[in-house]
Amino acid sequence: MKVLKFNNGDQLDAIGLGTWKSQPVKVEDAVLSALKSGYKHIDCAAVYGNEAEIGKAFQKAINQKVISRENLWVTSKLWNTAHKAEDVIPALKQTLDDLQLDYLDLYLIHWPVAFRPDLHGFPESDDDFLSLQEVPVIETWQAMQEAKKQGLVKHLGVSNFSVTKLKDLMGKTDNPPEMNQVELHPFLHQENLLEFCHSNNIHLTAYSPLGSGDRSTEMKAEDEPSLLENAVVKAIAKQHDVTPAQILIAFHLHRHTAVIPKSTNPKRIQENINSAKVNLTDEDMQQIKSLDKHYRYVNGKFFETTDGKYSNIFDE
Ligand code: A2P
Repeated sequence: MKVLKFNNGDQLDAIGLGTWKSQPVKVEDAVLSALKSGYKHIDCAAVYGNEAEIGKAFQKAINQKVISRENLWVTSKLWNTAHKAEDVIPALKQTLDDLQLDYLDLYLIHWPVAFRPDLHGFPESDDDFLSLQEVPVIETWQAMQEAKKQGLVKHLGVSNFSVTKLKDLMGKTDNPPEMNQVELHPFLHQENLLEFCHSNNIHLTAYSPLGSGDRSTEMKAEDEPSLLENAVVKAIAKQHDVTPAQILIAFHLHRHTAVIPKSTNPKRIQENINSAKVNLTDEDMQQIKSLDKHYRYVNGKFFETTDGKYSNIFDE
């Protein structure tokens, strides 16, 4: 398995299990099945609403000696309602309680957007958002540093940050993020972001690598293109005698990022980690490059306000 290396010597398996959209009733078995299949890297978030069930799987796996805590890598994310300094550590502690862990390997700011702390559910009006003047990102980042000092988390990072937003944060701290988790796949290569992150010692994790076909219909465009059904991807899969999903996952290994395909199906969970064996050629990569059309499945429009507090989340 390819790994990403951190400054302190820690290593992260490049293929992890995604849990966004994994139903609470299915996720415990899915995580346990993944750990039994050899996954060591599980990606979680408070807002996915399933951390308590994932915690049960961790407990079982550790008790049954499927994996030790030291060999397990758990990432979680701070939700947008907890960006104020005083809310960060309590939110992290809730996640740790739910996951039945006493530390996380990696904690990310989920979005560069802040909501009112008392908001339940998703914002319905501009008033549900706090501006960056009210909660500057550096305030959240400093509270994350404090959590690290307290031993609650080993590594810190961000998610959904553009180059502009990374530069802005890096200009205000001596402790830059070690990870940026963003959407990446053959329709969205984000070469500039990849280059910037890699030349600044920031790892990337690719979310929605398979096109997140299980999002709710409200989140989907009518004419959404399919990665799994793409003719070029299918042809490359045929040549390698593997599945289209395995090509889509192997693409990220070739680009030295982590990737977190979501599945709650044991057969597909196994299939996805087996992508580690697929070696794409430069010619395959060249063909996949031609598919880049800057298409986002998660376009961030749902976090734009009409009052200008938040616009153009991805700065493009
Ligand atoms: P399921 O959970 O039933 O396996 P993404 O990781 O881009 O969010 O995509 C997740 C979607 O892709 C889910 O609908 C998931 O369904 C499906 N999926 C996961 N692995 C595979 C695979 N190997 N082949 C086809 N579909 C897959």
